[in-house]
Amino acid sequence: MEAARLMEVVEGPVLPKSVTEESVLAVHHWTDELFTLRVTRPASFRFRSGEFAMLGLMVEGRPLLRAYSMASPSWDDGLDFFSIKVPDGPLTSRLQHVAVGDRLLLGRKPTGTLVLDALTPGRRLFLLGTGTGMAPFASLIRDPETYERYDEVVLTHTCRNVADLGYGASMVDALGDDPLVGEIAPSKLTYYASATREDFIHRGRITDLIDSGRIFEDVGVEPLALESDRVMLCGSQDMLDDLSTLLEGHGFTEGNHSEPGHYVIEKAFVEK
Ligand code: A2P
Repeated sequence: MEAARLMEVVEGPVLPKSVTEESVLAVHHWTDELFTLRVTRPASFRFRSGEFAMLGLMVEGRPLLRAYSMASPSWDDGLDFFSIKVPDGPLTSRLQHVAVGDRLLLGRKPTGTLVLDALTPGRRLFLLGTGTGMAPFASLIRDPETYERYDEVVLTHTCRNVADLGYGASMVDALGDDPLVGEIAPSKLTYYASATREDFIHRGRITDLIDSGRIFEDVGVEPLALESDRVMLCGSQDMLDDLSTLLEGHGFTEGNHSEPGHYVIEKAFVEK
């Protein structure tokens, strides 16, 4: 018996030292293509709101991991992740089927540039997300420091279809009941959602909405200004390229950990 168990341990898949094994606490399917996962958080796992970590599964005896932004606030006991489902995607085709109690792999070292410290001081913070690029902002809008540093926070989320906006909208709706930011967030945060391929109250790509000034008219705030505004971007590579070009055209410079700037970027998790 002991010998058999020992064999199992020796022959079983070997976990890399860089990951821990965590349990799935909850799964929520928002649409046929989007879902959220809540997993246990190891006591040693510390992160700053806006960062990402590696998340995945053992597949055929090997760890298969992808970068995922933490969508939960840094003070939360559990960790939330927001994912697309790609039918033939190596990881998400499997990850979408996990159930409560299943084991997942989590990288020990969170990292990323969508952090408040990578921006120079400003008055307004724009969080511009498309698709699953909402995830890091779901964390940042529940961090009290976001509201300590900025007078106004404008969160935009653009998706192809209206149903894809559901997760972000529910995060914003719940802010009033949040134990830490429930008082301050509703008075400082403006949420602007738009759809590009369906009729909706706001329609269009965020690039066009900024370019035309439409978003500022709709929200009733001053247009983008270098002196007052700082920006975080999270979306596809094309979205990041186009918005970076737009911002640089206004004189904004990209920041990072060692050199804070006017804006920071992170690619939303995509699996091709
Ligand atoms: P569109 O429907 O016009 O492509 P995706 O799921 O491909 O990442 O897209 C998420 C959202 O981001 C969609 O609404 C999409 O609009 C929009 N989008 C895609 N590419 C860009 C871009 N280069 N600039 C701004 N928004 C973009």
